[in-house]
Amino acid sequence: MKGSTSSNCLLLLLIVCFSTSFNLRCARAADPTDGFTLVPLSDGNFVLQKPYNLPLADRYSDASGVRKFWVYTNDKPFQSGSGTRPRTEGLDYSSGIWQFEGYAYVPKGTSGVTIMQIHGASEGATTLQLRIYDGDMKYYKFDVVATDLYDKWFRLNVIHDVDEGKITVFINGVKKYVVNDQGPGDLYFKCGVYAAPENSSKYMESRWKNIKIYKK
Ligand SMILES: *[C@@H]1O[C@H](CO)[C@@H](O)[C@H](O)[C@H]1NC(C)=O
Repeated sequence: MKGSTSSNCLLLLLIVCFSTSFNLRCARAADPTDGFTLVPLSDGNFVLQKPYNLPLADRYSDASGVRKFWVYTNDKPFQSGSGTRPRTEGLDYSSGIWQFEGYAYVPKGTSGVTIMQIHGASEGATTLQLRIYDGDMKYYKFDVVATDLYDKWFRLNVIHDVDEGKITVFINGVKKYVVNDQGPGDLYFKCGVYAAPENSSKYMESRWKNIKIYKK
């Protein structure tokens, strides 16, 4: 049943925490994290989902500080009956200015996959998806955010200014893309592998380290 939603699978890292919202404005900074405060994350903030019929160790590893996620396009979903594709997730927030940071590695051949997204929108499920197609990062399947990302570690920073409705994406500290968000919702960051609706490679993998959440 390749291509049907029921054949899809989910590998999910969910970082959940709650916070009061602050809004501190500061001068434009040289680094994406300047002016932000680190949000402490504990093991309880990480919730992992994977194909329901497999042990976690068959689709996830965490060694030497590197979280590795992988799925195959015909894997089962995270729970029986779910119609979702593979993914990984982040942090609950509803207002203020929030930032996701992580170092990501995508091996050559992984394609047609969201590696980072922001869940929550006034319509639809997400307000941002950053997908890898043939080594390039795209906003959904549309604008190119960055190119030539296979087989190297890169630093990804995503700032969501909820009050202004703006999302800014940085690669290796360089501002690459600014886009409007898609309204309020149940907002949280996700990272990992979440197969795109089309053109997924048979095997999809991303690795992550130094995942951090900041707020202003
Ligand atoms: C998916 O593959 C088809 C056929 O090669 C191509 O026309 C289309 O542009 C691809 N879509 C994306 C989002 O890359």
